[in-house]
Amino acid sequence: MNGIWGNKLELSLFGESHGTAIGITIHGLPSGVVLDLEAIDHQMARRRPGQGKLTTSRGETDQVEIVSGFFEGKTTGTPLTGIIRNRDTRSEDYDDVRNRLRPGHGDYPGKIRYGGHEDFRGGGHFSGRLTAPLVFAGALARQWLAGHGVRIGAHIQEMGGVPGGTFLKEPANDAVLDRLSQMTWPVLDKERWPLMEESVLNARQDLDSVGGIVECAVLHLPPGLGDPFFHSVESRLSQLLYSIPAVKALAFGSGFDLARMRGSEANDPYRMRDGAVVTTSNHNGGITGGITNGMPVIFRVAVKPTPSIGRPQDTIDYATMKDTQLEIRGRHDPCIVPRVVPVVESCAALAMMDLML
Ligand SMILES: Cc1cc2nc3c(=O)[nH]c(=O)nc-3n(C[C@H](O)[C@H](O)[C@H](O)COP(=O)(O)O)c2cc1C
Repeated sequence: MNGIWGNKLELSLFGESHGTAIGITIHGLPSGVVLDLEAIDHQMARRRPGQGKLTTSRGETDQVEIVSGFFEGKTTGTPLTGIIRNRDTRSEDYDDVRNRLRPGHGDYPGKIRYGGHEDFRGGGHFSGRLTAPLVFAGALARQWLAGHGVRIGAHIQEMGGVPGGTFLKEPANDAVLDRLSQMTWPVLDKERWPLMEESVLNARQDLDSVGGIVECAVLHLPPGLGDPFFHSVESRLSQLLYSIPAVKALAFGSGFDLARMRGSEANDPYRMRDGAVVTTSNHNGGITGGITNGMPVIFRVAVKPTPSIGRPQDTIDYATMKDTQLEIRGRHDPCIVPRVVPVVESCAALAMMDLML
């Protein structure tokens, strides 16, 4: 298996949901970057389970132990490894799914891929828990980017079928990202939050789950990052964003709506403003020809409904190779969209740092 990503910056992700620990090694960090550990904790807390009525009750502290590459408050420039111990595991909840494969999850393909040797407990290496080390690495990248004036913010654009505003209507700028950063569950139109929450709670009551859309903005990127083909900014971002479990679609700028526009509408006209080149609309999401054009990079990801649901579902028993049914016990979010927000921001930060290095 290959758990390594990167170009200038290289990530190696490891661990299983119910194993001893999960973690990440980051290669290629510049030396002498001062790390704000409290800011890292803050990002980790945004993704952590066990907060409020929408997330699972698995009580993990997600405290990161930095075991290398960090000395006297700064990066040393050698590989930096962060480890997060698993504490609140209830592996017996998963005895049932050892052979009764969860529809929508990685159980069946994983069994084939690893010949039945995979640690299936808690979803093993397929678990959304593996996004915690990504948030840790992303928190480091955000700090480096902040030193270069770049900032990132995402929000819940839609959850359980309830829309909550979009950067296409309310363009992303510093004031908007400041506002979002103050919210536990960031939404552009906060009046919509109770409806979104209600939709998730209704699904949970029905022993079901729902998905949604996370929209993200990267501000103050210099123009000229990226390449026209295999290393376009879209390609670099896509590889990381599609690595997030449950992300099934991705769109940049006006995305699929561009297919229905005329060129006169889709083209973002250029203007000079205070000595800088800007565009007066941003349908292309800050990227043209695979390269940043200096406007905010805007994209959104679709997150599918949590696969593990309590309702009876058709499946097969892999031990007997017979049709059977499955009712999943255990602790699962009825919707993972709120917890995906910091993960999306982290992947964006890592991709951008990699491009800028
Ligand atoms: C933060 C996060 C938490 C997740 N929590 C759960 C969960 O509690 N139960 C579950 O079945 N899937 C959960 N998932 C989704 C699965 O890991 C994912 O759907 C599965 O690995 C199959 O991969 P795919 O959806 O990308 O095809 C979570 C994903 C993320 C990003």
